[in-house]
Amino acid sequence: MSLLDVIALGATAGAGAVGYGYAESMAFTTRHLDANVLPQGSEPIRVLHLSDLHITPAQTRKIRWVNSLNALQPDLVVVTGDFLAHQLAVPAVIEALGALTERPGLFVLGSNDYFAPELKNPFMYFSKSRTIKGHGRSLPTQDLVDELTRAGWSDLNNAQTSLSIGALQIHARGTNDPHIKKDDYAKVAGKFADGAFALGVTHAPYSRVLESFSRDDADLVLAGHTHGGQVCIPFYGALVTNCDLPTKQAKGLSTFTTSQRSMPLHVSAGVGTSPYTQIRIACRPEATLLTLHSKNN
Ligand SMILES: [Fe+2]
Repeated sequence: MSLLDVIALGATAGAGAVGYGYAESMAFTTRHLDANVLPQGSEPIRVLHLSDLHITPAQTRKIRWVNSLNALQPDLVVVTGDFLAHQLAVPAVIEALGALTERPGLFVLGSNDYFAPELKNPFMYFSKSRTIKGHGRSLPTQDLVDELTRAGWSDLNNAQTSLSIGALQIHARGTNDPHIKKDDYAKVAGKFADGAFALGVTHAPYSRVLESFSRDDADLVLAGHTHGGQVCIPFYGALVTNCDLPTKQAKGLSTFTTSQRSMPLHVSAGVGTSPYTQIRIACRPEATLLTLHSKNN
């Protein structure tokens, strides 16, 4: 085989992987998971966890799919940031969420809700020492927050709220995005309310924020940001999380453990990707319907 043959073979394989990765990035999947995290004696509730929508106005298929999730009839919707991927995406996000905004909802923001996506070197995600810089153009973040809060959703960026679903009291708190150091846990610190389901929400699951939620006795933390590793090795999993979370916790339900206690963590692999890297391998875009049950069920 000549050098030219080897180069041609490599180029064909690369093009095939890119084509496959694009197709998988459109293979929207709904996952159903159960977790025993509610105060004893609570009736189950359904929580729809969405993350990393990365919506542009042209993504009509994604918008329609997100819109269809209302049929799952969740009791609560939680979105863990990175809604936007375009200057004009706020109306598209509201269109995608559709009737979901009429349900109780909680949200935090991710870095991509502040800055427009830019073309990046994908190998930088393998560098542990990389610094986070070079943000793109500013996005209409406040318009997004205004639309969501006008619909009745609670903004948990370094903030907290209480709500009830049936007889269940929920004390939810969140941080702004730790990936760009906008988290200020001190603004919400202190033990969660006695007797309530204690829910922590953040975009990027950095250990400093997870440790804070755990210290205050959170029953469950929801996060996104990792894209589940996005380009994974089949039967092995993620190679990166783009934060200090171990790769084995890049997506799904896991346990975050400190020397004091263990706490359930759900990381969503997310719905979207940057428009510049619309590829997923062995890591489908997802929404998760978490059915939460009482502890020791
Ligand atoms: Fe993201």
